[in-house]
Amino acid sequence: MAHTYLVTGVSRGLGAEFVRQLRARGHRVIGTVRDPAAPGPAAALADRIERLDLSDHASFPAFVRTVGEPIDALIHNAALLRPDATLAELSPDSLGQTLSANLVGPALLTKHALPWMDRGRRKLIVCVSSLLGSLSQTIGGWSYSYAISKAGLNMLAVQLSRELSPRGYTVVTASPGWNRTDMGGPDAPLEPRQSISSLLDVLDGLTHDRTGSYINYDGSPIAW
Ligand SMILES: NC(=O)c1ccc[n+]([C@@H]2O[C@H](COP(=O)([O-])OP(=O)(O)OC[C@H]3O[C@@H](n4cnc5c(N)ncnc54)[C@H](OP(=O)(O)O)[C@@H]3O)[C@@H](O)[C@H]2O)c1
Repeated sequence: MAHTYLVTGVSRGLGAEFVRQLRARGHRVIGTVRDPAAPGPAAALADRIERLDLSDHASFPAFVRTVGEPIDALIHNAALLRPDATLAELSPDSLGQTLSANLVGPALLTKHALPWMDRGRRKLIVCVSSLLGSLSQTIGGWSYSYAISKAGLNMLAVQLSRELSPRGYTVVTASPGWNRTDMGGPDAPLEPRQSISSLLDVLDGLTHDRTGSYINYDGSPIAW
Protein backbone atom coordinates (compact mmCIF):
# COMPACT_ATOMS: atom_id res chain seq x y z
CA MET A 1 0.00 0.00 0.00
CA ALA A 2 1.32 3.45 -0.90
CA HIS A 3 1.87 5.80 2.02
CA THR A 4 2.84 9.45 2.50
CA TYR A 5 6.24 9.84 4.14
CA LEU A 6 7.60 13.06 5.63
CA VAL A 7 11.41 12.78 5.56
CA THR A 8 13.69 15.48 7.01
CA GLY A 9 17.07 16.42 5.56
CA VAL A 10 16.80 15.10 2.00
CA SER A 11 19.32 17.44 0.35
CA ARG A 12 22.01 14.74 0.36
CA GLY A 13 23.27 11.54 1.98
CA LEU A 14 20.83 9.06 3.47
CA GLY A 15 17.90 11.48 3.24
CA ALA A 16 18.30 11.71 -0.54
CA GLU A 17 18.47 7.91 -0.68
CA PHE A 18 15.27 7.62 1.39
CA VAL A 19 13.54 9.79 -1.24
CA ARG A 20 14.83 7.76 -4.19
CA GLN A 21 13.89 4.42 -2.72
CA LEU A 22 10.55 5.41 -1.21
CA ARG A 23 9.49 6.86 -4.57
CA ALA A 24 10.71 3.71 -6.35
CA ARG A 25 8.50 1.70 -3.97
CA GLY A 26 5.50 3.80 -4.99
CA HIS A 27 5.20 5.97 -1.89
CA ARG A 28 4.44 9.70 -1.78
CA VAL A 29 7.31 11.71 -0.26
CA ILE A 30 7.36 15.15 1.30
CA GLY A 31 11.03 15.96 1.78
CA THR A 32 12.50 18.82 3.77
CA VAL A 33 15.62 20.84 3.02
CA ARG A 34 17.21 23.85 4.64
CA ASP A 35 17.84 25.64 1.36
CA PRO A 36 15.13 25.17 -1.27
CA ALA A 37 17.30 27.12 -3.74
CA ALA A 38 19.86 24.28 -3.68
CA PRO A 39 17.77 21.23 -2.81
CA GLY A 40 20.05 18.48 -4.21
CA PRO A 41 19.21 15.90 -6.87
CA ALA A 42 16.72 13.97 -4.71
CA ALA A 43 14.38 16.95 -4.69
CA ALA A 44 13.27 16.32 -8.24
CA LEU A 45 12.11 12.86 -7.21
CA ALA A 46 10.13 13.94 -4.16
CA ASP A 47 6.45 14.78 -4.59
CA ARG A 48 6.96 17.91 -2.51
CA ILE A 49 9.99 19.71 -1.10
CA GLU A 50 9.49 22.06 1.81
CA ARG A 51 11.91 24.29 3.68
CA LEU A 52 12.71 23.26 7.25
CA ASP A 53 15.58 24.03 9.59
CA LEU A 54 15.39 21.64 12.56
CA SER A 55 17.00 24.30 14.76
CA ASP A 56 14.34 26.88 13.96
CA HIS A 57 11.74 25.50 16.34
CA ALA A 58 9.53 28.60 16.15
CA SER A 59 8.95 27.86 12.46
CA PHE A 60 7.41 24.44 13.09
CA PRO A 61 3.74 25.49 13.44
CA ALA A 62 3.91 27.34 10.09
CA PHE A 63 5.78 24.42 8.51
CA VAL A 64 3.11 21.97 9.61
CA ARG A 65 0.36 24.27 8.28
CA THR A 66 2.21 24.28 4.96
CA VAL A 67 2.35 20.48 4.91
CA GLY A 68 -1.42 20.54 5.13
CA GLU A 69 -2.12 16.86 4.45
CA PRO A 70 -2.17 13.56 6.36
CA ILE A 71 1.21 11.99 7.06
CA ASP A 72 1.43 8.20 7.29
CA ALA A 73 5.10 7.97 8.32
CA LEU A 74 7.62 10.46 9.71
CA ILE A 75 11.34 9.81 9.30
CA HIS A 76 13.55 12.00 11.48
CA ASN A 77 16.66 11.77 9.30
CA ALA A 78 18.27 15.23 9.40
CA ALA A 79 21.18 15.63 11.79
CA LEU A 80 24.50 17.34 12.13
CA LEU A 81 27.81 16.21 13.57
CA ARG A 82 30.26 18.65 15.12
CA PRO A 83 33.88 17.51 15.51
CA ASP A 84 34.07 17.72 19.30
CA ALA A 85 35.80 14.39 19.83
CA THR A 86 37.40 15.36 23.15
CA LEU A 87 36.25 17.19 26.25
CA ALA A 88 38.65 20.02 25.32
CA GLU A 89 36.83 20.49 22.01
CA LEU A 90 33.34 20.45 23.55
CA SER A 91 31.84 23.94 23.52
CA PRO A 92 28.52 25.62 24.24
CA ASP A 93 28.07 26.01 20.48
CA SER A 94 28.89 22.42 19.55
CA LEU A 95 26.64 20.97 22.23
CA GLY A 96 23.87 23.55 21.88
CA GLN A 97 23.66 23.46 18.07
CA THR A 98 23.78 19.67 17.97
CA LEU A 99 21.08 19.14 20.59
CA SER A 100 18.95 21.82 18.97
CA ALA A 101 18.98 20.14 15.53
CA ASN A 102 19.30 16.45 16.44
CA LEU A 103 17.10 16.22 19.52
CA VAL A 104 14.95 19.28 20.26
CA GLY A 105 14.04 19.54 16.57
CA PRO A 106 12.69 15.98 16.18
CA ALA A 107 10.90 16.16 19.55
CA LEU A 108 9.04 19.38 18.74
CA LEU A 109 8.46 18.51 15.09
CA THR A 110 6.74 15.31 16.22
CA LYS A 111 4.59 17.33 18.59
CA HIS A 112 3.49 19.75 15.88
CA ALA A 113 3.08 17.12 13.13
CA LEU A 114 0.98 14.80 15.28
CA PRO A 115 -2.45 16.13 14.20
CA TRP A 116 -1.57 15.24 10.58
CA MET A 117 -0.17 11.88 11.68
CA ASP A 118 -3.37 11.14 13.59
CA ARG A 119 -5.13 11.38 10.22
CA GLY A 120 -2.53 9.09 8.58
CA ARG A 121 -2.92 5.34 8.18
CA ARG A 122 0.52 3.86 8.93
CA LYS A 123 1.25 5.90 12.08
CA LEU A 124 4.98 5.12 11.89
CA ILE A 125 7.67 7.31 13.47
CA VAL A 126 11.33 6.49 12.79
CA CYS A 127 14.16 8.23 14.59
CA VAL A 128 17.35 7.79 12.57
CA SER A 129 19.83 7.24 15.35
CA SER A 130 23.29 5.67 15.52
CA LEU A 131 25.17 2.96 17.35
CA LEU A 132 27.01 5.91 18.92
CA GLY A 133 23.78 6.69 20.81
CA SER A 134 23.87 3.34 22.61
CA LEU A 135 24.98 3.72 26.24
CA SER A 136 26.52 0.24 26.19
CA GLN A 137 28.11 0.22 22.73
CA THR A 138 29.13 3.76 21.96
CA ILE A 139 32.83 4.27 21.39
CA GLY A 140 34.90 7.20 22.52
CA GLY A 141 36.90 9.35 20.15
CA TRP A 142 33.89 10.53 18.15
CA SER A 143 31.76 13.56 18.74
CA TYR A 144 30.61 14.10 22.33
CA SER A 145 27.65 16.24 21.29
CA TYR A 146 26.54 13.88 18.52
CA ALA A 147 26.60 10.79 20.75
CA ILE A 148 24.71 12.65 23.50
CA SER A 149 22.12 13.86 20.98
CA LYS A 150 21.54 10.34 19.63
CA ALA A 151 21.24 8.87 23.14
CA GLY A 152 18.61 11.55 23.78
CA LEU A 153 16.88 10.73 20.49
CA ASN A 154 16.69 7.10 21.60
CA MET A 155 14.94 8.19 24.79
CA LEU A 156 12.61 10.37 22.75
CA ALA A 157 11.62 7.30 20.72
CA VAL A 158 10.96 5.34 23.92
CA GLN A 159 8.88 8.15 25.40
CA LEU A 160 6.89 8.51 22.18
CA SER A 161 6.30 4.78 22.01
CA ARG A 162 5.02 4.71 25.61
CA GLU A 163 2.56 7.54 24.97
CA LEU A 164 1.55 6.89 21.37
CA SER A 165 1.58 3.10 20.99
CA PRO A 166 -1.83 2.76 22.64
CA ARG A 167 -3.11 5.12 19.91
CA GLY A 168 -1.88 2.78 17.18
CA TYR A 169 1.55 4.31 16.54
CA THR A 170 4.68 2.30 15.92
CA VAL A 171 7.80 4.20 16.99
CA VAL A 172 11.33 2.91 16.51
CA THR A 173 14.84 4.27 16.71
CA ALA A 174 17.08 2.86 14.00
CA SER A 175 20.76 2.89 13.14
CA PRO A 176 21.49 3.02 9.40
CA GLY A 177 25.01 1.63 9.96
CA TRP A 178 28.20 3.40 8.96
CA ASN A 179 27.65 4.81 5.47
CA ARG A 180 29.69 6.61 2.84
CA THR A 181 28.06 10.06 3.05
CA ASP A 182 29.40 13.51 3.92
CA MET A 183 28.85 12.58 7.56
CA GLY A 184 30.14 9.00 7.41
CA GLY A 185 33.16 9.79 5.23
CA PRO A 186 34.85 7.75 2.49
CA ASP A 187 36.07 4.89 4.72
CA ALA A 188 32.60 3.73 5.73
CA PRO A 189 31.82 0.14 4.73
CA LEU A 190 28.24 0.73 3.56
CA GLU A 191 26.75 2.44 0.53
CA PRO A 192 23.52 4.36 1.33
CA ARG A 193 21.80 2.30 -1.38
CA GLN A 194 22.38 -0.95 0.58
CA SER A 195 21.66 0.47 3.99
CA ILE A 196 18.42 2.26 3.10
CA SER A 197 17.15 -0.66 1.01
CA SER A 198 17.62 -2.98 3.98
CA LEU A 199 16.13 -0.49 6.46
CA LEU A 200 13.05 0.10 4.27
CA ASP A 201 12.53 -3.66 3.97
CA VAL A 202 12.65 -3.84 7.78
CA LEU A 203 10.22 -0.91 8.15
CA ASP A 204 7.84 -2.45 5.57
CA GLY A 205 7.65 -5.60 7.67
CA LEU A 206 7.59 -3.84 11.04
CA THR A 207 4.68 -4.86 13.20
CA HIS A 208 3.19 -2.91 16.09
CA ASP A 209 4.64 -5.27 18.69
CA ARG A 210 8.15 -3.96 17.87
CA THR A 211 7.25 -0.41 18.87
CA GLY A 212 9.76 1.12 21.25
CA SER A 213 12.66 -0.93 19.89
CA TYR A 214 16.17 0.11 18.89
CA ILE A 215 17.05 -1.62 15.65
CA ASN A 216 19.90 -1.91 13.22
CA TYR A 217 19.35 -1.33 9.48
CA ASP A 218 19.23 -5.11 9.01
CA GLY A 219 16.46 -5.43 11.60
CA SER A 220 18.57 -6.93 14.36
CA PRO A 221 18.08 -5.45 17.84
CA ILE A 222 20.67 -3.04 19.25
CA ALA A 223 21.46 -3.10 22.96
CA TRP A 224 20.56 0.17 24.65
N1 LIG B 1 26.46 8.32 7.57
C1 LIG B 1 26.60 7.51 8.60
O1 LIG B 1 27.54 6.70 8.66
C2 LIG B 1 25.60 7.51 9.71
C3 LIG B 1 25.78 6.60 10.76
C4 LIG B 1 24.83 6.57 11.79
C5 LIG B 1 23.77 7.43 11.76
N2 LIG B 1 23.62 8.33 10.73
C6 LIG B 1 22.45 9.21 10.77
O2 LIG B 1 21.80 9.16 9.52
C7 LIG B 1 21.17 10.43 9.25
C8 LIG B 1 21.62 10.97 7.90
O3 LIG B 1 23.05 11.08 7.93
P1 LIG B 1 23.90 11.37 6.60
O4 LIG B 1 25.08 10.52 6.67
O5 LIG B 1 23.03 11.38 5.41
O6 LIG B 1 24.35 12.89 6.92
P2 LIG B 1 24.79 14.06 5.92
O7 LIG B 1 25.26 13.49 4.64
O8 LIG B 1 25.68 14.94 6.70
O9 LIG B 1 23.38 14.82 5.63
C9 LIG B 1 22.75 15.43 6.72
C10 LIG B 1 21.42 15.98 6.27
O10 LIG B 1 20.82 16.61 7.40
C11 LIG B 1 20.51 17.96 7.06
N3 LIG B 1 20.62 18.84 8.22
C12 LIG B 1 21.69 19.07 9.01
N4 LIG B 1 21.39 19.97 9.95
C13 LIG B 1 20.10 20.35 9.73
C14 LIG B 1 19.21 21.24 10.35
N5 LIG B 1 19.59 22.03 11.39
N6 LIG B 1 17.95 21.37 9.88
C15 LIG B 1 17.55 20.62 8.83
N7 LIG B 1 18.34 19.76 8.17
C16 LIG B 1 19.61 19.63 8.63
C17 LIG B 1 21.52 18.32 5.98
O11 LIG B 1 21.04 19.44 5.25
P3 LIG B 1 22.04 20.52 4.56
O12 LIG B 1 22.42 19.93 3.23
O13 LIG B 1 21.26 21.75 4.48
O14 LIG B 1 23.24 20.65 5.47
C18 LIG B 1 21.53 17.03 5.18
O15 LIG B 1 20.41 16.95 4.34
C19 LIG B 1 21.54 11.34 10.42
O16 LIG B 1 20.52 11.30 11.39
C20 LIG B 1 22.80 10.68 10.97
O17 LIG B 1 23.00 10.97 12.32
C21 LIG B 1 24.52 8.40 9.72
